[in-house]
Amino acid sequence: MAAMLSVDRLSVRLPHGDGMAAVVDGISFEVGRGEFVGLVGESGSGKSITARSLIRLLPQGAEQEGSVKLDEIEVLDLSRRELRKLRSSRAAMIFQDPRAHIDPLWRISDHLTEPLKLRGWSRSEAGRRGLELLASVGIADPERCFDAYPDQLSGGMLQRVMIAGALAVEPQLLIADEPTTALDVTTQAEIMGILADLRREQGLTTLFITHDLELASVVCDGILVMYAGTIIESGSAGEVFARQMHPYTHGLLRARPSLTGPVGELEVIPGQPASGLEAPSGCPFAPRCAWARPACAEASRRLVPLSGTRRSACIRIEEIADELD
Ligand SMILES: Nc1ncnc2c1ncn2[C@@H]1O[C@H](COP(=O)(O)OP(=O)(O)O)[C@@H](O)[C@H]1O
Ligand SMILES: [Mg+2]
Repeated sequence: MAAMLSVDRLSVRLPHGDGMAAVVDGISFEVGRGEFVGLVGESGSGKSITARSLIRLLPQGAEQEGSVKLDEIEVLDLSRRELRKLRSSRAAMIFQDPRAHIDPLWRISDHLTEPLKLRGWSRSEAGRRGLELLASVGIADPERCFDAYPDQLSGGMLQRVMIAGALAVEPQLLIADEPTTALDVTTQAEIMGILADLRREQGLTTLFITHDLELASVVCDGILVMYAGTIIESGSAGEVFARQMHPYTHGLLRARPSLTGPVGELEVIPGQPASGLEAPSGCPFAPRCAWARPACAEASRRLVPLSGTRRSACIRIEEIADELD
């Protein structure tokens, strides 16, 4: 069966200096129906631009190329009208900062029922459905929330409302761009719980974007690790966490404070993370990599299959894998 989402050699260029530069550079990946896949990388690596490019919600002046197939439909070929329809039916997106994506003058009820009314639901049907959706994302007093304005709700409550709003259109794909990053730890866990339930109970296909590889390895089926606009490693979450197949992923995990390990032995990756805009040619991680050789500066950025579902873009991975243990 074809994947729910199939991305092939997707590039996004943005105006940069006098010309254009790629912030997403020829990435390919698939998300199967019902899968929960994590797109993981440091700030600036191109996660949000990737997410937005899937539904062509890109900044002014951006150029996009390659293929994005959502349930066999080529998103890059859609007219503006068809795109609007796609965004209000097949694919929904939630963001890190819900307040930036909700009209403060609309009550929560308007936010939830307007899209349904546009699809022909009566006012009372839409209202009933809106309340149901609020209950389904764990809001204890849906009626009260329904009448509230966004600024009367906490960040965590508002993110629940955003998820409810995303679900209102019964999407086949939910794109969640750092939905918990702005929230406190307890609320974060609650929101992750809701996403996990949706996936379990409704089989909702989810692309979950985060900078937190450890979180992704707990909640996701598969992981795509992004660096400077390219995917440098992928595989099942358990495998990637247990054994990294790229020096960058290895460094990323080692750079985290361990809850059980000795304090003060935090290893960090030397140098600054590059965005796609400043990435050198060849392997973009080479300037920061302890294992780099001159050939890395000319290496292809293609993900090469290893065993099972593992893929790595590191040309030296066979030689150095044992050292990454
Ligand atoms: N609207 C924009 N205009 C110009 N550059 C942008 C814009 N949005 C993002 N970028 C640049 O694209 C790169 C990737 O950004 P982004 O996808 O937001 O990264 P991430 O979500 O991984 O933190 C960064 O270098 C960022 O500065
Ligand atoms: Mg982002």
